[in-house]
Amino acid sequence: MVEPTTNTAVKIVDLAAYGERFTADPYPVYAELREKSPVHYARLPHGNEVWLVVGHEEVRAALADPTLSKSWLNSEQWTDDDELYIGTHMLNSDPPHHTRLRKLVAKEFTPRRVEALRPRIQQITDELLDAMPATGRVDLVEALAFPLPMTVICELLGVPFLEREAFRGWSNEIIAPVGDPERQETAFKEMGAYLSRLVEEKRERPGDDLMSALIRTTDEDGDRLSHDELRAMAFLLLVAGHETTVNLIANGVLALLTHPDQLAELRADWSLLDAAVEEMLRYDGPVETSTFRFTTRPLEIGGTVIPGGGAPVLVVIAAADRDPGRFPAPDEFDIHRPAGGHLAFGHGIHYCLGAPLARLEGRIAVRSLLERFPRLALDADPATLGWRSGALIRGVRSLPVRGDGGA
Ligand code: HEM
Repeated sequence: MVEPTTNTAVKIVDLAAYGERFTADPYPVYAELREKSPVHYARLPHGNEVWLVVGHEEVRAALADPTLSKSWLNSEQWTDDDELYIGTHMLNSDPPHHTRLRKLVAKEFTPRRVEALRPRIQQITDELLDAMPATGRVDLVEALAFPLPMTVICELLGVPFLEREAFRGWSNEIIAPVGDPERQETAFKEMGAYLSRLVEEKRERPGDDLMSALIRTTDEDGDRLSHDELRAMAFLLLVAGHETTVNLIANGVLALLTHPDQLAELRADWSLLDAAVEEMLRYDGPVETSTFRFTTRPLEIGGTVIPGGGAPVLVVIAAADRDPGRFPAPDEFDIHRPAGGHLAFGHGIHYCLGAPLARLEGRIAVRSLLERFPRLALDADPATLGWRSGALIRGVRSLPVRGDGGA
């Protein structure tokens, strides 16, 4: 049994010291850390101190390590006064609770079920592209990357009337906080109250949708979701729908527009599309670090011992997918590379439930956009683009483009 070291024995890496540079381009910093060791104790830009895992092999192992708990009840910082604002969902629970929650929705997200959504996803995409002006500057995040996955997940859940602007505000505050814990807490509370009302409304007026099915659901064991579990499930699915695929589309289109040779090859041969989307996920994927995990016993990684007893651990997916030991010339965007094995959707029992949906949306969005606008071009210096704050999400705030190529 390995004895835990104390944090004072380990040098702390202060990511805040890198300032905005780190938010805009964290990859050189992660490369530097990865070269030194696969694990570091670090202060995040907004102050939290966490253990970071940065090597591909180690990240993969940590994501599947059953001794790392997803439950906040196992966090060293947890106190009895704390409450889970939104409740327990798949991503903050361990087996057997996790197994039960995931099983209730897994069948809705299989590649086959998701493929049936193709015509509707195409239709929503076409309508959004119809509304995009052929000339002049357009923000692709607002015009396509955000509304497409948002509309899809709202329709799937059966909440097309969701108050999108309010929800987007809360979601952004929770996922990409600007560093004010009070604002984040308020967002959690307001979103929780809103989702409670939403669940109650669904219960009174059920329809032919996922949320109604979950309300009705009784699996073989006569299992039912409680109100809090339903609310947490809606939270997780809606937030995942809000915060991730948007960045696959926006970061991916940015990578293509800044690599015109690759873009031209893709336009000339659409059989490269699936590989191109995988490379977008690897090269500049939407999720920079995993969500929190907590040690339940000391854990040795690459010679460093992370103490047990609820120490917070973040695995850095963005660092794993640029590990030269796994992907040669990792900083090159290359749609021909075999990008399979990237960890953009995580790994292990919490592997992204929405991966088939996100891939389908990404493929439809990128192809339809490029076909509709043969001269599509970036309308900004890439170095001036603003990036989402926080360690979790990697995404441009806006992506100015011109359908006419600026002619
Ligand atoms: C390109 C888009 C997406 C990316 C890159 C992504 C990435 C991820 C990652 C990395 C995890 C694991 C996090 C961890 O272990 O800490 C995850 C989990 C999850 N994702 Fe996604 N996601 C995407 C889209 C979606 C969509 C559209 C949905 C909606 C259905 C979704 C639903 C979920 C759920 C429910 C989990 C938790 C699974 C579990 O705990 O068993 N994701 N996602």
